[in-house]
Amino acid sequence: MDMAVAKEARMAASILRLHFHDCFVQGCDASLLLDDTPTFTGEKTANPNRNSIRGLEVIDGIKEKLESACPGIVSCADILAVAARDAVILDGGPYWDVPLGRKDSRTASLDEANNNIPTPNSTLYTLLKKFLLQDLSPTDLVALSGAHTIGQARCTSFRDRIYNGNGGIDSDNAYMSVLKGICPPSGGDNNLSPLDSVSPVLFDNAYYRNIVNGQGLLTSDQELSMHGSITSEIVQRYAGDPLAFWQQFSDSMVKMGNIVNPLTFITGEVRNNCRFVNE
Ligand code: HEM
Repeated sequence: MDMAVAKEARMAASILRLHFHDCFVQGCDASLLLDDTPTFTGEKTANPNRNSIRGLEVIDGIKEKLESACPGIVSCADILAVAARDAVILDGGPYWDVPLGRKDSRTASLDEANNNIPTPNSTLYTLLKKFLLQDLSPTDLVALSGAHTIGQARCTSFRDRIYNGNGGIDSDNAYMSVLKGICPPSGGDNNLSPLDSVSPVLFDNAYYRNIVNGQGLLTSDQELSMHGSITSEIVQRYAGDPLAFWQQFSDSMVKMGNIVNPLTFITGEVRNNCRFVNE
């Protein structure tokens, strides 16, 4: 993976995101990685994933190496969890121990992928609710959103933030002008902006300082600092204390990584190929 990230810095962010999109749907069971087939519908065409998730070939490459060195031992779900941690380190972020032993699912859920993963236009209330559904607290929500200190988003993900005043509260006008230059009212859907325009490939706490300054890219980012909310206090804390962010991010990643799919205790497996269930 370090080679993939050396070739393209953004890849670290893309890999980190895969673990999140896996864990919010049936637990961390690599359901995200299953390809559609004529008789099987996976999660890759769900709205949060379509034209958006990246890095699947990098995961395939890791899996191939593991299978030739040590076949049938390391699940695809564990690969995602460890790769996410390593991605954070490659961008200068914290280390944490990753609990292992996840099994891969034989099922996927397009519906859950559409419903459980929050959209970029979510209100704070919806964000809190969707995290609570996964047993994740407001603190986990704020800390894990700090993943947006790296990576990019497409114009289509932040257009409403610019033109429909979504999260418009507290927007920085100069920043909005920059975004308008990247993302026109129509067209240019795939034009990219960094999620953290200050230090887009560094796993620091600039994300929180941006939000405090009205420079959150997504509505869901800016919402976290809504006046008087419980999350705005946490945003303030991480904006001023990078180590507190790192510590909580590590703890919250372990917590998110421990969301289980109970079915995998019965029918789970270690896939031979992350894209398909075993024969
Ligand atoms: C709180 C709710 C969240 C929302 C609404 C959200 C939404 C999004 C959206 C819309 C994008 C841009 C996708 C695109 O335009 O193609 C994105 C990118 C990203 N998200 Fe989130 N996200 C959330 C939480 C998280 C969490 C918990 C993590 C990981 C722990 C995460 C990691 C990332 C990363 C690293 C990227 C950049 C990916 C890349 O450059 O390829 N996000 N997110």
